[in-house]
Amino acid sequence: MKKRLIEIRDEALSSIKGVSTPDEANALRVRYLGRKGEISTLLKGLGALDHNLRRELGQETNKVKTAIEEALNTRIKELQCALDRERLKKERIDTTLPGRKPYRAKLHPITTVMTEVEDIFTGLGFSIAEGPELELDYYNFESLNIPKDHPARDMQDTFYISKDLLLRTHTSPVQVRVMEAGKPPLRVIAPGTVYRRDSDVTHTPMFHQVEGFMVGSGVTFSNLKAVLTHFLETLFGEDVAVRFRPSFFPFTEPSAEVDIQCVICGGGGSTCRVCKGTGWLEILGAGMIHPNVFKSVGYDPETVSGFAFGLGIERIAMLKFGIDDIRLFFENDLRFITQF
Ligand code: DAH
Repeated sequence: MKKRLIEIRDEALSSIKGVSTPDEANALRVRYLGRKGEISTLLKGLGALDHNLRRELGQETNKVKTAIEEALNTRIKELQCALDRERLKKERIDTTLPGRKPYRAKLHPITTVMTEVEDIFTGLGFSIAEGPELELDYYNFESLNIPKDHPARDMQDTFYISKDLLLRTHTSPVQVRVMEAGKPPLRVIAPGTVYRRDSDVTHTPMFHQVEGFMVGSGVTFSNLKAVLTHFLETLFGEDVAVRFRPSFFPFTEPSAEVDIQCVICGGGGSTCRVCKGTGWLEILGAGMIHPNVFKSVGYDPETVSGFAFGLGIERIAMLKFGIDDIRLFFENDLRFITQF
C-alpha cells in the first residue's frame, strides 16, 4: 500500500508538470486528492490494518497529499503568471502615442459667407436689422408695390399660411418695417431666411438673403454702384469685373441686375457650364427705391431718395466655393460641411 502511495505521488507530480492551464491542474486535484480520488480510494482498505501500520501509513499519506497540494499550487501560480503576462502584453497601451484629436466644430459655409457679407456692410456704416419670417401679405407684397395680380404672388412660389399671412419670399419687407419705424437717413442691411416653393440643384424651399438699403436726401444711383462695386470686390477680389444691367423689380425704379465676371472660367469660357458661356454671373438685384414704397411708409419721394439691393447667400457661397448643388448645404453631411 505504501509502495502504491509513492507511485501515486510520482505519477501525480509528473502529471502536474505537464498541465498547461489552471483548469487542467484543478482537474488533477480532483483526480488525486478529491473525495473519490485515487488516494481516498486507496485508503479505503486502511481500516483493516494494524494500528501502528495504520498510523505510519496515515502520516505517509499526509506527506504525499501535502507534496501534491504544493506542486499543484506552484504550478497554478506559474500558469497564472504566464497568463497575466500574456494579457498585459496584449492590452499594452503606449501612453506616449499622440491622442485622438478632439472634434472641433466649424462654422457652416452659409454662416461664414453671411458673416463676411455683414462685416463688409457694417464696415461701410450699415447697421443690421431683422424682420419676421412669418410675414403679412402687406409687408411682403403690397407695401413693396407688388399688386394683387403680380405673378410673384402665385401659389406656385409662395407658402401661404392664410389669405394675409405667409412665409416671407424675400427679405425686402424688412426695408418697409425699418423705414416705418425710423426716419432717414438710414443705412441698413437685413439678413435672414426666406421661403419659396422651389426645389432643384439651384433652389431650395428655404434659403438666405441679405437685403440692403440706404435712404436720405440726395442718395443716387452712383452711390449704389459705388457701394455694390466695393462690396463685390471685397468679396470676390479686387480684380473682379462688375457690370450693371437694366432690369425690372416692382419696388425699384430704375432697377438693375448686377453681374460679376464668371469666377469659374474667368469670363473667357465659351463652354463654361456655370456662366453658360456668357462669361458673366448674375449676383444680385438692385435699384432706386420706388416712390410708391416711400409713400407706403409715409416718406415724401420728392425730398427723400434711396437705393436698395437684395442678394442670395447660397448663390454667393456656391460661386465662392465652387459648389454645384445647393442642396448639399442642407444635408448636414459633415464630410461636406467641414471642408470649408
Ligand atoms: N427681393 C428681390 C428677390 O427676392 C431681390 C431684390 C431685388 C431686392 C432688387 C432689392 C432690389 O432690394 O432692389 O429676388
